[in-house]
Amino acid sequence: MTEMIQRSLENGVLTLTMNRPDKKNALTEAMYAALADGLEEAERDPQIRVTLILANGDAFTAGNDMGDFAARGSADPKPQSNETHPTTRFLQNLATIRKPLVAGVNGLAVGVGVTMLLHCDLAFAGKSATFAMPFVNLGLVPEAGSTFLLPRLIGQQKSAQLLLLGKKIDADKAEALGLVAEVVSDDKLRETATAAAHELAAKAPNAVLATKALLRDGDRDTVMSQMKEEGEIFAAQLRSAEVKEAISAFFEKRKPDFSKVS
Ligand code: COA
Repeated sequence: MTEMIQRSLENGVLTLTMNRPDKKNALTEAMYAALADGLEEAERDPQIRVTLILANGDAFTAGNDMGDFAARGSADPKPQSNETHPTTRFLQNLATIRKPLVAGVNGLAVGVGVTMLLHCDLAFAGKSATFAMPFVNLGLVPEAGSTFLLPRLIGQQKSAQLLLLGKKIDADKAEALGLVAEVVSDDKLRETATAAAHELAAKAPNAVLATKALLRDGDRDTVMSQMKEEGEIFAAQLRSAEVKEAISAFFEKRKPDFSKVS
């Protein structure tokens, strides 16, 4: 496991901590692979009852690493590569894991930093957390089944503000919309999320698994098929002129200019 994802196991709680604070925990392929491995370990190991996702530093995650986006966009096209990519594996594991997921969102959550929360059974946010899904701003489409899960959670209009306009919201708004269960002070975030994970891990395990299944399984097939469709469009868009312009603009610290894209 890369040192940029830290792993610890205590009293049935597997904690996966994103640890690339100098880059706002932007997720590289190696980090996605380590997170995917962690979720697979959690599913397999009877000692693990709950997985807790946390982050070090002042951000939860700035989303996918932009350099990796650029590299994927210019790599040789391979028809199956999207299916086996570590990001796809992580997203599929998130959507299919039978055991509960808990997250503690400190600071900013961008892109997959928000869409992963739609798969978490309990998400907590620090007061200063912010949430944004600027996929369209980057010439991309949302992922992780969010184009199905988000409108069902918050409605079409609010989803359009977040997914089409890419609006950023604060922690209180995220709680009001139902994206997180509870907002706590920044200094209480880690202990609150950790306590909830341990509380869940101490409960009757089969009742917990069955309750999660009853809450989630009805939508599983729709989530998986929407995720597949999102993934195909996402992979095609990664090679587009608009994504190239958006990524160049990010690294050149300027606004993208989409006026010449047809
Ligand atoms: N991929 C790669 N590096 C990233 C990154 C990302 N997604 N997000 C931030 N970083 C890097 C920055 O390049 C910078 O590196 P540097 O110190 O070597 O220049 C470092 O992390 C700190 O980021 P910075 O932009 O200086 O911090 P900020 O507080 O001013 O802004 C963000 C933070 C997250 C708002 C801004 O970095 C951003 O917009 N990042 C891209 C987010 C994004 O669009 N992700 C994809 C979603 S689909």
